[in-house]
Amino acid sequence: MEVFSAIEDIRRLRWADSSAIWGFVPTMGFLHEGHLSLVRRARQENEQVGVSIFVNPTQFNDPKDLETYPIDLDRDLALLKKEGVDLVWMPSQDIVYPPDYETFVEVTQVTTVLEGAARPGFFRGVATVVAKLFNVFQPQRTYFGQKDAQQAIVIKRMVQDLNFNIEVIICPTVREADGLAMSSRNAKLSAAARKEAICLYHALCAAKELFEQGEGDAERLRAKMVAVIESTDMARLDYVSVAHPDTLEELTVIEDRALLSLAVFFDTVRLIDNMMVVSLSFDSAS
Ligand code: PAJ
Repeated sequence: MEVFSAIEDIRRLRWADSSAIWGFVPTMGFLHEGHLSLVRRARQENEQVGVSIFVNPTQFNDPKDLETYPIDLDRDLALLKKEGVDLVWMPSQDIVYPPDYETFVEVTQVTTVLEGAARPGFFRGVATVVAKLFNVFQPQRTYFGQKDAQQAIVIKRMVQDLNFNIEVIICPTVREADGLAMSSRNAKLSAAARKEAICLYHALCAAKELFEQGEGDAERLRAKMVAVIESTDMARLDYVSVAHPDTLEELTVIEDRALLSLAVFFDTVRLIDNMMVVSLSFDSAS
């Protein structure tokens, strides 16, 4: 496994064999099984696998959140080596954003809601850095997690709109044994909050169960999720959503599919999770 910070080094190795098929997994490090599931899928489907580790400052609107973002590069590199990764890019901030930097990528419509509304500038930062990462690695395939459902939609939109010749593959959310979606931010939870953080998963499961019992009224599903979160002592609800999985427009009635999602604070730690619901008739028809 080669590890570089300079862009020239990444390009040299990327193009050493110009016929090789590359899979690429962008990350902000502090890797867990969720990240590794993307790496494994990339390893299965490509001749060469590249990973980036870069805590991207432009996607943090809260400087405290950026300052306290967990980092353990030695551990990350050991994990990636074990997975058979070929190339890791670990750039410094001024390699990605030199002092004279002034170009940003904005995906307009689908970023106005949910995470985009809650965290102004977040998706501008994500789209910008991912476009840069794509340009440096120029992979044929790239792997993102369903855990960050809106991010996956934004990246797909950008790839289509800017004509990146890259296949975007979305991988399922990896969860802890109790159902909590794995996240680097889970490490910031107190022991008591960690126990209660399972309420996100419980809220999604409860709403999904309602839907599967025949409830198609989106507001009832939202109310169910709100009730679960509000009955959890330390949890402070940011939003719940029952939206169209492609446009993220809030639904009144669920026709065939919906993306259930929510964001919840435990003290200053903000967790997100989501689940797709699909009606049986749609499933069998598609
Ligand atoms: P990061 O939070 O490190 O996540 C990197 C990738 O891992 C993302 O595609 C994310 O959706 C996926 N991931 C995280 N937790 C997961 C889980 N429990 N199951 C499956 N996949 C999971 O997302 C980012 O970094 C950044 O925004 C980035 C795209 C790297 C741009 O800076």
